[in-house]
Amino acid sequence: MTTLRNILITSALPYANGPIHIGHLVEYIQTDIWARFQKMRGHHCWYVCADDAHGTPIMLRARQEGITPETLIARIAAEHQADFAAFRIGFDNYHSTHSPENQHFSNLIYRRNHDAGHITRRIITQAYDPIEQMFLPDRFIKGECPKCGAANQYGDNCEVCGASYSPAELKNARSAISGAIPEQRESDHYFFQLADFETLLREWTRSGSLQKEVANKLDEWFTTGLQQWDISRDAPYFGFEIPDHPNKFFYVWLDAPIGYLASFQNLCDRTEGLDFEQFWAKDSTAELYHFIGKDIIYFHALFFPAMLHGAGFRVPSAIFAHGFLTVDGQKMSKSRGTFIKARTYLDHLNPEYLRYYFAAKLGSGVDDIDLNLEDFTARVNSDLVGKVVNIASRCSGFIHKHFAGQLAAELAHPTLFAEFIAAGDSIAVAYEQREFNRAVREIMALANRANQYIDEKAPWVIAKQPERQAELQAVCAMGINLFRVLIGYLRPILPGTAADSEAFLRIEPLTWAALATPLLAHEIAPFKPLMVRVDSAQITAMLEESKEDLTAMTTAPTAPVANPHLIRDPIAPAIDYDTFAKTDLRIALIREAKLVAGADKLLQLTLDLGGETRNVFAGIRSAYDPKELEGKLTVMVANLAPRKMRFGISEGMVLAAGPGGKDLFILNPDSGAEPGMKVK
Ligand code: 2FM
Ligand code: ZN
Repeated sequence: MTTLRNILITSALPYANGPIHIGHLVEYIQTDIWARFQKMRGHHCWYVCADDAHGTPIMLRARQEGITPETLIARIAAEHQADFAAFRIGFDNYHSTHSPENQHFSNLIYRRNHDAGHITRRIITQAYDPIEQMFLPDRFIKGECPKCGAANQYGDNCEVCGASYSPAELKNARSAISGAIPEQRESDHYFFQLADFETLLREWTRSGSLQKEVANKLDEWFTTGLQQWDISRDAPYFGFEIPDHPNKFFYVWLDAPIGYLASFQNLCDRTEGLDFEQFWAKDSTAELYHFIGKDIIYFHALFFPAMLHGAGFRVPSAIFAHGFLTVDGQKMSKSRGTFIKARTYLDHLNPEYLRYYFAAKLGSGVDDIDLNLEDFTARVNSDLVGKVVNIASRCSGFIHKHFAGQLAAELAHPTLFAEFIAAGDSIAVAYEQREFNRAVREIMALANRANQYIDEKAPWVIAKQPERQAELQAVCAMGINLFRVLIGYLRPILPGTAADSEAFLRIEPLTWAALATPLLAHEIAPFKPLMVRVDSAQITAMLEESKEDLTAMTTAPTAPVANPHLIRDPIAPAIDYDTFAKTDLRIALIREAKLVAGADKLLQLTLDLGGETRNVFAGIRSAYDPKELEGKLTVMVANLAPRKMRFGISEGMVLAAGPGGKDLFILNPDSGAEPGMKVK
C-alpha cells in the first residue's frame, strides 16, 4: 500500500492580454496529465492556476481597445477558461492575480521581507516617454543596436548580433508606444536583495529534486553573482499599489507567482477541510511543484523561493521546466499558419489528439518538442484509432449480437491479463518521472499485444461455429478487458476518451488500483465510435484559418506583443552594391568555442583565418554545444570594426541562418574550403 501524498501543482499563469495557443498548451497538457495521474493513484492532489493580469502590456492593450483593464482581463479570463475546459485541463481552481487574495499575499510577502531588511530603496534613472507621460519598460523602446547598428532592436538586446546592453545605449531610440524620443528621468525604486538568500538557494539547488538543467542554470547564476531585483514600477501601471507608497506599484513579476498562493487560498475558502497552512507553512510536508517554460526559470528558481522564504513560507519541492514547441521543425510562424490558437485548433480537431501527441513527445527534460503535422496524423490514426479504439470495436459487436451485451464470467487468458496489470508498475514510474513518452511507448506495446491476441483467436471465425459460443464470449470479453486496462493507463492523457469508454463499459471512473479487477459477468453499452481518424484536410483547413488570423491581426493597430520574437521586422532600407562589396566574407576555422559566464545567448569563438586569429562573440549558444563546433568551418565578416562588448572585444561576426533557437546554422558544409579563403 503506497502512502497517500498531499500534492499541490501549478502551471505558469498565462498573461491576460492574448489568446491561448498551442505553444502554451504543451505546459497545460503536461501538467494536467501529471495531476490526473496523481489523482488516479489516489493521492490528495490539487492543481491550481490563474490569469496573470497585471503589467504594462495589459494596461496598454486595454487603452488601445478603449476599455478598462478590468473589462479586458474579465473577457480574456472567460476566453482562457473556455479554451482550457475544451482541452480538458482539469484545474481545481482558476483564479486571477487581480484578486483580493493576491493583493493580501503580495502585501504580506512584501511587508515581511521589508521588515526583515531584504528590501532597499534607491533612485534610478530610466527612459521616460514625455508624450505618454510614463516610464518605458525596456521592451517598449526600439532603436539601432549600439554594437552592430541593426535597426528596430528592442531596448535590452540585439537579435542580430546578440549583444546585451542597457536601453540608454540604443541609438536613435524611440518609444514603441508614441514614437517619442525617450528622456532620462529619475525615480525612486524598491529592490529585493536576492543575495541575502544565496545560502538557502544553494542548499535548495543541491536538494536533488531539481532537473539537472535547472540546477546547472542556478550554478551559473551563483557564479555570475545574485543581483538586486527591482520590484517596483511607477504610475501609470495596472497592478497593486505598494502599501504606503502612493503611485508606486508592484512589478507584475512580483505578484505573478504569488498568484499560486492566491489561487490556492481561494480554493481553500471554498473547500471544506482544505487547509492553506498545511501546504504553505514553513514546516509543511506537502509537496509543491511548479510546471513552467524554460524561459522563466530565473523568476521561479531564484526570486520566488527567496521571497517565500523571506516571508516565512515554505519553498517549492521542485520546479519542472519544459522546452518550447516547434511546428514541423520550425518556430511557430504566422505566415506559415503554424501559430495556431487553441480555439482555431478546436474548430478543426479533437483536443484528445493533441494531448496524445504531446504526451508521446514529452520527456522530463527541457528539450524543445516538435509537432510534426504528418507524424501527428499518422500516430493518432495508427495508435489511437487503429490500435486502442479498434480493440473495443472489434469485440463489442459480437458481445451485443450474440450475448445481449453480457461479458463472460471468467477471463479467457488470465496470464495475459496479469501481464497487462504487471506492466502498470513501470508505466506508473514513467508517469511519475514525467517520462510520458516512455509511458506511451509501453502502453502501445500492450495495445499491439492485445491486437495480436484477437488476431490469433479470430472471433469472426469462431462466431460462425454455433458450438463455440462460450469461447466467443470469453475471447471477446478478454479483448474488452484488455481494452479497459489500456484506457485506464491512457486516462491521464485522454480524459475525454476515457470518460466515453467508462460510459461504454458502464463503469465508475477508473482508478489505478481498480484496474487489476477484471470486468466479468457485466453488461456493457452498445459501442459508439470513441474516436475518428484525423483527415489531413482538417489540418490544411486549420493552417489556412490560422493564416486568416494573421490577416486580421496585421490590419489591427500593432501593440508590442508578449513574444516579440514571433513578429517579423520589416526589411531595412536598400544599400547599393558598392556598400555591400565592402563586406569581406571569409572562411574561418573554429579553433576554440567556449561558454561566456553571465551571457545566456553567447559563445566565445577563437577563429583562425589562415594564420590570423580572431576573438568573436556569437549569439548562437541556443543552437550549438561549444565542443561540437571546434575544428569546423564557418563564414565570418572579417572586416567588421572591433566592438567592445560587456564580455570583451569582438573582432568580427559569424554569419548565421535559420529560424532561431536550436536551428541556427553557422557551419559551412563545403569541405573544399580553406581558412582565410574569400567568400564570393
Ligand atoms: O511568462 C508568462 O507568460 C508569465 N505570465 C508567467 C507567469 S508564471 C507565474 F509566475 F505567475
Ligand atoms: Zn546588434
